Amino acid sequence: MKLSTNQKRFLEEWIEFLKIPSISADSKHNSDTQAAAKWVENALLKAGCSTVEIIPTKGHPIVYGATIIDSSLPTVLVYGHYDVQPPDPVELWDSPPFDPVVKKTKLHPEGAVFARGTCDDKGQMFMHIKAFENMLARGPLPCNIKFMIEGEEEVGSSHLEDFVKNNKEKLGCDIILISDTGMIAQDQPSITTGLRGLSYMEVCIIGPNRDLHSGLYGGSVQNPINVLCEMIAGLRDDKNKVSIPGFYDNVVDLSDEEREAMSKAPSDEQAFKKSIGIKSTAGESGYNTEERRSIRPTLDVNGIWGGYTGEGAKTVIPSKAHAKISMRLVPNQNWEEISKLFTAHFKSLAPEGVFVEVQTHHGGYPYVTPTETIGYQAAHRAYKETFGIDPVPKRGGGSIPIVPMFERELGVKSILMGFGLDSDAIHSPNEHYGLFNFFKGIETIPKFYDHYIELWRSKKSN
Ligand code: BES
Ligand code: MN
Ligand code: MN
Repeated sequence: MKLSTNQKRFLEEWIEFLKIPSISADSKHNSDTQAAAKWVENALLKAGCSTVEIIPTKGHPIVYGATIIDSSLPTVLVYGHYDVQPPDPVELWDSPPFDPVVKKTKLHPEGAVFARGTCDDKGQMFMHIKAFENMLARGPLPCNIKFMIEGEEEVGSSHLEDFVKNNKEKLGCDIILISDTGMIAQDQPSITTGLRGLSYMEVCIIGPNRDLHSGLYGGSVQNPINVLCEMIAGLRDDKNKVSIPGFYDNVVDLSDEEREAMSKAPSDEQAFKKSIGIKSTAGESGYNTEERRSIRPTLDVNGIWGGYTGEGAKTVIPSKAHAKISMRLVPNQNWEEISKLFTAHFKSLAPEGVFVEVQTHHGGYPYVTPTETIGYQAAHRAYKETFGIDPVPKRGGGSIPIVPMFERELGVKSILMGFGLDSDAIHSPNEHYGLFNFFKGIETIPKFYDHYIELWRSKKSN
């Protein structure tokens, strides 16, 4: 890929940004998240944003920017996050996670940048800042633009709800634009029309008051790890449905027509299996892989620990066993409700002889958006222009809790214009983001604004 002078500069700036280890989950990196917020503030100012400020929260700060050209025109609010996931396990990275390198791969013959946060979400968010800069360079902005870039998305955006509730005027807008999702393939753009909700739990099984000799005591007391495994097994039935009573009560089932329409989006089961090195897929019976990954709720153990895990063998009955368990939710499941149902059911599975503790970490509501809105249509036209193909609507499996919250608090829908690929390895070692995707995003975003304002005008005059 031959880069123009501007593109070279954009790439260099992006690489500087990626060097800041803004890991929101790790308080040792608090000064780095601060530095990343500062970096974003400066990037917005340099790009030409009229007012920019860093707003502290009880957690990591929010960067807010605005360029208001005419209050009679609509306002687009761009949301993104500058925080990243922890890079662990670091030893599985081919190059250090905060030392970005450009490498060519089969899917990215033009090259891709490898570092934590390249795709999720520093790269995708930075595309908006650079698109904004390009728009200013070409002439007057088509509408008002606000930016809200946060630093706690990867830890559940817990301080954002208060911020949004208390700053409704500041965040006032007609549409929210976000690039923090993916698309189907380089030659098949898609627009995310839904996100799953999330309920994240932690459980602890407590047995004897200390670790015990497994010979002296084994067989006569409950072993918390054995118990935990059985309890976890009791959370799903033989059809891979979640067995928590009431779990599916509010799930909106798709009609046959909707499922039929969904099955038209290109997907390749063989390629899917190959890409993650598995021989067969698995999941809720009665649904295909794409459905299981997006329109159906799930329950997964994210981590499990207890007892002796060091080198060699140690004979021990542990005093405690722990697990982190998450549930992905779909419309109209209520995550607070689901967390309560989980707690009651999980406790009911406990045998005599152990204590059970259940804790709710964080959660988020699911989200869906129609395709008839001018926002969606503008995104459709933008992708069509730059990719030369019609983008297809696609429900996503991940969660961005702020999106349903924006809808509840501000009454505004979000347009999820993602440019990432599943193979970008977000949250995994060797996360990367293609130069093609990065520059295609910068090219496509201004077209969204142009079409949006055009559709807004014709809607208004009707
Ligand atoms: N950008 C992702 C979410 C995403 C990725 C949605 C790809 C759709 C497609 C976001 O940063 C994320 O990782 N969200 C978390 C939720 C959060 C509460 C920790 C997730 O989905 O696990
Ligand atoms: Mn993200
Ligand atoms: Mn993420």
